[in-house]
Formats: sequence, structure tokens, C-alpha cells
Amino acid sequence: MAEGARTPSVEEPEDELLPPLGVALGALEGRLAVVTGAASGIGRATAELVVGAGGRLLGVDREREGLVRLRDELGAAVVVADVAQEGSWPALRAAAERAGGLGLVHLNAGVACGVEDLAALPVDQYRRVLGVNLDQVVFGLGALGPLLAAQGGGAVVATASLAGLVPLPGDPIYTATKHAVVGLVRAVAPSMAERGVRVHAVCPGMVDTPLLGPEVRRMLAEAHFPLIDARAVAEAVVRVAAADAVGQAVVVQAGRPPVPFRFRRPPGPRTPGAEGAVPPGRLGDPG
Ligand SMILES: NC(=O)c1ccc[n+]([C@@H]2O[C@H](COP(=O)([O-])OP(=O)(O)OC[C@H]3O[C@@H](n4cnc5c(N)ncnc54)[C@H](O)[C@@H]3O)[C@@H](O)[C@H]2O)c1
Repeated sequence: MAEGARTPSVEEPEDELLPPLGVALGALEGRLAVVTGAASGIGRATAELVVGAGGRLLGVDREREGLVRLRDELGAAVVVADVAQEGSWPALRAAAERAGGLGLVHLNAGVACGVEDLAALPVDQYRRVLGVNLDQVVFGLGALGPLLAAQGGGAVVATASLAGLVPLPGDPIYTATKHAVVGLVRAVAPSMAERGVRVHAVCPGMVDTPLLGPEVRRMLAEAHFPLIDARAVAEAVVRVAAADAVGQAVVVQAGRPPVPFRFRRPPGPRTPGAEGAVPPGRLGDPG
């Protein structure tokens, strides 16, 4: 890649910003993790980390075949469910409650949209992408946040995307859903933290999973653009889950440590006596 095409580093030193992996894995031991989209890609990688760390897993996906593999290979409990449907969540909550000791919820299931021209966007496709990528996170936080709080606290990590921080012009609907997830996570984090629930997002770049279709893969390969291993994203998930801070949006890129994104404050008012002021209480920017 040409020197001029490189993005500047976000902030250094990076590796000290999240707890070490060993500490994060230790925190999973004996606890229950609910992972959506667990049958494939990033979700499957989180599932493997959790079980490898001595945690218990409740894997959720709409794809039965991948879940059966997860159950057989990892000895995990699995539930076939469409996480975009509000009606799926009471049963998921009940299953997690029965298992007990909930410590981590990874709201990770997601789909691309792939339609660039909004005039050609089928409404049902639009609703489906919103349902999986955004509604899931809203319903998941609503259903499992209180259970986490009741069972001693823990973390919810939503898989957003780098497309939650910067636009992906080829997929504006995907971009919109992932920006929404980042905003949602940052907005709920302060109140949920008061109940002992730490909420975060991870924002990976291009990850080597089936979500990247053949055309995208071809373009990336031609540009010699490096793909991220799904395990690296899973490691970022468990590390931020163990962090003290809340409402982080953790960038994951190939070959570099995961790093919480530093948001810039937008300009504030400029009226006399209130230059740069932030609105009070929950009307303001938490951080
Ligand atoms: N692959 C990438 O480049 C990339 C980059 C950034 C973010 N992400 C995000 O990572 C997350 C995981 O994706 P992945 O890359 O592992 O892709 P993947 O296709 O390998 O896995 C996604 C999983 O989600 C499941 N799923 C989809 N809709 C569902 C629904 N309604 N109910 C239950 N399960 C459902 C699928 O069956 C699949 O098993 C997604 O949120 C995606 O947007 C991926």
C-alpha cells in the first residue's frame, strides 16, 4: 500500500488500554456467556475462547447446522433463535436464568445489506438488516441486562464494526445500523454501569469470515488488504468485557492490538458564560 494511503495511528501506547488476555480469560471461568451468531465467524471464535477458559456457553444462532457443530465440538448449550425477533428473547432469558452465573453477553449476530442505491433497496431487506443488526442489540440489552445485574453484574459487548465509526459507502444501511449500535452502547453505558453492567462495542475492520462475500474478498485480495482473524476480534471482546471503563468502542485491525476509539467532542455553544458547555445530567455527553 502507498505510504500516503495509511491511516494515522489512533493513540499510543495501545496495548495498555485493555486488561491482558490472561486476566480477561480468567474472569470467564465458571461464568455463563451468551453469544449470538455463535454458529460462525466471530461468534464461533468467542465461543471457543469462552469454553477454552473454563466458561459455560449458551450459543444462539438461526443456523441449526452450525449450532449442532458447536454443541458437539465444544459441549456447549445451544438455542436456535432469530435474535431480530422480540419474541425470541423471553426464552433466551429463561435459558440463561436456568443456567445461572451469567457474566458475559456477546450480541454479535449480524448481516450485511450490500445495496448502495437506496432507490433500489427492497423494504423487507432494509427491515431485516435493521432487525438483526440493531433490534437484536436493543432486545438483548433489555432482556439480559437486568439478568446480568441480578446475577452479580458483568458485561455486554455488541459487535458493531469499523462501519460504526466511519462510513462504508458501498453499504449505507449496514453503516447506519453499526453507527446506531455504537451510539446505543455509548448512551446506555452510564445507566447500566450503575447496575453493575458494563456495556461496550467492538469495531472490527475486515474480518476473515463468511460475511465477506466473494466480490468483497476479491477486491480486498487484489488490494493486498489484510483480513483480521476472527479470534483476534474474540480476544478484543473478552478483554474489553473485563475492562473497568464502560461505553468503549474498541477498534480491531489486522496486526495491531485492539484500541478503544477516542471520540472527539463536537463544538459546544459559544454564548457568553457557556462556552463549550455540556447539557446537565443525562442530557449531556457522558464522556
Ligand atoms: N466479517 C467482517 O468483516 C465484519 C467486520 C466488522 C463487523 N462484523 C460484524 O461481526 C458480526 C459477526 O459476523 P461474522 O463476520 O462473524 O459473520 P458470519 O456470517 O460468519 O456470522 C454471523 C452469524 O450470525 C448469524 N445470524 C444472522 N442473522 C441472525 C439472526 N437473525 N438470528 C440469529 N443469528 C443470526 C448467522 O447465522 C451467522 O452464524 C456481525 O455483527 C458483523 O456485522 C463483521
